[in-house]
Parts: sequence; C-alpha cells; structure tokens
Amino acid sequence: MRDVLDQHCFRYSADAEPQLMCEEVALSTLAKEFGTPLYVYSKRQMIENFRSFDSTLKASGKEHYVSYAVKANSNIELLRVLAEEGSGADVVSAGELLVALAAGFPPEKITFDGTGKTDPEIELALKAAIHAFNVESLEELEVINNIAERLGLRAKVSIRVNPDVDAKSHPYISTGLKENKFGIDMHDAREAFVYASQHPALEVVGIHVHIGSQITSLDPFIKAARSTVKFVNSLRVKTGIVLEHLNFGGGQGIHYRNVVQHPMLPPDEYGDEGEYVPSLSEFVGAVLPILDQTGLKIIFEPGRAIVANACALLASVLYTKSNSLKNFVITDTGMTELIRPCLYEAYHQVAPLTLRAGDLMRKVDIVGPICETSDFLAQEREMPALKRGDQMAVLCAGAYGYTLASNYNLRPRAAEVLVDGDRYWIIRQREIIEDVAGLVDADRLRLKSLVG
Ligand code: LLP
Repeated sequence: MRDVLDQHCFRYSADAEPQLMCEEVALSTLAKEFGTPLYVYSKRQMIENFRSFDSTLKASGKEHYVSYAVKANSNIELLRVLAEEGSGADVVSAGELLVALAAGFPPEKITFDGTGKTDPEIELALKAAIHAFNVESLEELEVINNIAERLGLRAKVSIRVNPDVDAKSHPYISTGLKENKFGIDMHDAREAFVYASQHPALEVVGIHVHIGSQITSLDPFIKAARSTVKFVNSLRVKTGIVLEHLNFGGGQGIHYRNVVQHPMLPPDEYGDEGEYVPSLSEFVGAVLPILDQTGLKIIFEPGRAIVANACALLASVLYTKSNSLKNFVITDTGMTELIRPCLYEAYHQVAPLTLRAGDLMRKVDIVGPICETSDFLAQEREMPALKRGDQMAVLCAGAYGYTLASNYNLRPRAAEVLVDGDRYWIIRQREIIEDVAGLVDADRLRLKSLVG
C-alpha cells in the first residue's frame, strides 16, 4: 500500500515532450542554470513527509516526538525547515550537534547517538544540555559519568540495547544483531542501567533501540518492540528503575522503485505499486500498541523517511558506448555523489529529464566517470535511448546521498538547490577544486599564471 509519503513532488509535465518537474520547476531549467551533478530538493515533499510521520503518531494520542536523524542529510537549510516544523534532531558527532543547534533545534529535543563518542564531543553535548545520550557500552557510560562529574553537570542517558533481531535489510545497514557493534546485549543491559542509576552524575531517562535501516517488513520491528517492552517491564520489577522514554530509532523503509511514473517510461518489473513497503500507518499500528504497554513517552528517529524521496540527483550524459555484452551510458555523476548503489547494491530509479515520443528502449548500465568498476548508478536498466548531452534524475537521493559524498578522484562536491513551489535557490555552493585540494595562495597564483 502506498501512503502519503509517496505523494511525490517529482512528476512529469503534460507537455508533448514531458518534462520532469520538481514542484513547479522543470529540472532541466535547474540543470541548465546550475550545471550537473546537482542535488535538487522539494521543500513541500520534505514537510509532507515530516507532517505525515508526526500526525500519524499524534492520531494515536500517544505522547511522542520525532527526532530527525541528521546523518541522513545535514544541509542546514533543510534542518531549519524541520526545526521549524517542530522536529527533534538525532546527532552522531560534534559536527551534527553544532549544525543542529545552529539550525534551531531545541537542545531538549536533541539526542546523541553513536558507538564512538569522543571526550570533547561528550563535553560539548553536556554543555549544550541535550535531551539524552544514547549510550552504547558500559565503558562509555563510565566516561560520560567522569566527564559530567568533572564539569559539575548531570548527564541524561538512555541505554541502547541490542535485541538480536534480524532487520532483513542489507547486512551493511542492519544493526540489531549480536554480531553488530551496536548497543548492549539485552542480557548485559540491566547491569548498565543499574550502574547508571547508582552514579549521581548520570540520570537514566530512557532506553534506545534501532535495528537497522530501509526495513521493508513489519516483523523485525514487532520482534524488537516486544523484546524491548519485556526488558523495560522486567527492569522495573527487578530493579525499581523507572524510565521516562523509549526511543525506538528509525529504519522505516521507503519505495525506491516506480516512484515517478509515465506511459513513456518502461514498466517497472515490480509493477505499478513498486516493491512492498509497509505504510506509516501500518508501521505505527503494528508497533505503537506494543510500545504503549510500557506507558513511556515514545521517540522515533526517522532519517530516510523524511528526506529520501524529497530529492533528485541530476546527471548529464557524457558518452555512450556498447560492446557485444553491454551498453554503457557514461555520466558526469557517480559514486562520489551517490555511493548507495556501489555500497549496498541499492536500487535508485533513473528518469530522463525530458521524454521524447518514439525513443527506443534499451537495456543500459548507467555509470559514472570514477576510476572504479563499482562506479555505477544503475545496472541492466531498461531506459529510453540516451545520448550525449541528455540529462536524467536519480530519484530518492535525499538520504545518505550528499552526506556520503566524497572528493575521490579530486572531484568537488555537487551543489544543492531547494525548490519551493515555483521558486528555487542554492542551499550549498558547488565546491571548487582549489579548496578541495587545500591549495595555498602561492599554488593558486601559480595556477592562475598557467591556466588563467
Ligand atoms: N537512529 C539511529 C541510531 C541510526 O543509526 C540511524 C541510521 C537512524 C536512526 C536513521 O535511520 P533511517 O530512518 O534513515 O533508516 N547509509 C545507509 C543507511 C545507514 C543508516 C545509519 N543509521 C544507506 O544509505 O542506506
């Protein structure tokens, strides 16, 4: 079932040569004005995503807050939009904490995750008076206690448990199994809660569980919810420790297939509905009644579900070539802009910015210019014929796109543009080679004399 998260702000216009639009703006206009590779975000889609998450929870009548996982996309202009919507922020580094504070998230709605928080990061978060640290080990608890004591502050802690549940997602984005580095084994977690409750510089406020990302079945969520609730109840009975909140993490899957539809596009092998992904209301309907048995305030930390489908990454065709086995479309955009296909064999729909009647379909590999075999955006993909100069959009690139981008091959990171109705503006400039390469003034002068 598709739900409100899929009311996509990227769609084709009704022209004879249909144009792919972001809200009221033709993507070809943006590609022309700003060049490619280019990340384009729909403000409306992002707001709709946040609101539908928030209102589905509100409708349940449960006390909750949505804490957007900043790692999915940390552009400050996008963060400002979410802060204004009333979202909290889930951060994993000093960088994310500072940008979240600068964007206007209230400290009491900021949680700090991560297996390897450094001492300066802990100190910074304590001074900022964030809502809670999601603590991942007994040793980390000890360190937070010592730093808080030294500063004369009290650290609010929420302990991340590992429920040993298979999220059935890609192994690299599954976090809830014993063999994963995340959280504290359920069997050892009680010790951590008792330790925290016995140290005056620590205040135990919650429990945290996050089993992975792009989870497309309800079963793992249900299993994790059940074992967390069982743990919370036995903690209360056996130790008398009463918590304030239960943070159930993020991980809600989204549709990556058949996101943009048009009769002139080849049919998706998964059919019109795309792949099966539980709707938000199915998710909430399945897990909330379980989590509710604790009576605790519930926090969710979605990242992908808020930003992924609010963005398209624009690319231009540089060359095409074929051999007896393959047709290659070589673009100016690759793993340096979007590493997900290479890293997780992730599927992203690729759609031409302009559709032309009569274009033949061809099975192609859409690849980038990077010197790596794994530098592909799509493989064996049926596409309308593409030639040098044609442009395309890689859809659902908003989560873990720009934030995982790199300067490999000394490529400057792409620019980012935000669209709101028929208005648009740059929210991050394209990097320039001189900065990326860390050139000093003398180098810049020498270059200027050589190439102008
Ligand atoms: N909470 C915690 C503790 C997390 O580690 C994450 C993501 C989230 C929330 C948000 O998860 P989401 O709702 O976005 O699934 N780079 C990978 C995804 C890595 C996810 C890391 N943790 C990808 O591109 O698929």
